Amino acid sequence: MNDKVYRRFAEVYDTMGADRFSAQMVEYTGELIHKFNIDVVHALDLCCGTGTALHLFARKGWQLVGVDRSEGMLKIARKKLRGTGAKLYQKSLPTFKIALPGDKETGKGFDLVTSFYDSLNYLLTQRDLKATFRTVHAHLKPGGWFVFDMNTAEALKVLWDGQVFADVHDNLAWVWKNTYDENKQTADCAATFFVRKGKVWERFTEVHTERAYANSVIRKLLRESGFVVRGLYRCFSFEKPDADDYRVCVVAEKKR
Ligand SMILES: C[S@@+](CC[C@H](N)C(=O)[O-])C[C@H]1O[C@@H](n2cnc3c(N)ncnc32)[C@H](O)[C@@H]1O
Repeated sequence: MNDKVYRRFAEVYDTMGADRFSAQMVEYTGELIHKFNIDVVHALDLCCGTGTALHLFARKGWQLVGVDRSEGMLKIARKKLRGTGAKLYQKSLPTFKIALPGDKETGKGFDLVTSFYDSLNYLLTQRDLKATFRTVHAHLKPGGWFVFDMNTAEALKVLWDGQVFADVHDNLAWVWKNTYDENKQTADCAATFFVRKGKVWERFTEVHTERAYANSVIRKLLRESGFVVRGLYRCFSFEKPDADDYRVCVVAEKKR
């Protein structure tokens, strides 16, 4: 991810309703936890953004840590998470190191690592995606779980390529123009925002780039990083994904 994204976007992320996606993922993760009988005490949300998922996970009484690269996003998260005890770190994927929770008796490491809303699509090479999987592996305890969603190539081709998304609120408007490069399997979103500050409308643009990975590649890189893939679903279901699905959710367990 280039470090010019999620700067001013952070100010308006929740206002434009982008926080609703991780709320849906938290509910779905609850179903996955039930299905796979996962016990969670310590959880880490990677690319935690404005902290919505952590805020909702806090209601479960878990001990929480969030990691994100964007200081702007973390600033909002800090406010949202006041009083929850959640710890936040400004760190960048693919490699970082934070203190592991737990002890020798319980096993050192997190019980669950999550990453929502196509955050891992910001990793633009297989090398970085694999290095990220290794980083997650190093932070999980043996038998710990990793749950994340990703946009598929179909999403970038159909939902992004040539599409313009625009909307206007009282103090905020945006125009997002998207393109897709089929050869590289990357899509660019040139996101322009207009934010009203008193009588003045401020304008800024961020260019976001995502890359899609075939399900077979995701599985292979996870296996090579010491995971067993327990589920790869059409997101928000327990169904096997089809070629025309836009988003997958992956459930992987660190080998014991
Ligand atoms: C689409 S937002 C999702 C935020 C949050 N997970 C949610 O569901 O609302 C993507 C997040 O990934 C973070 N991110 C992207 N690339 C990153 C990297 N290489 N290291 C750490 N964070 C990254 C961004 O800063 C941003 O907060």
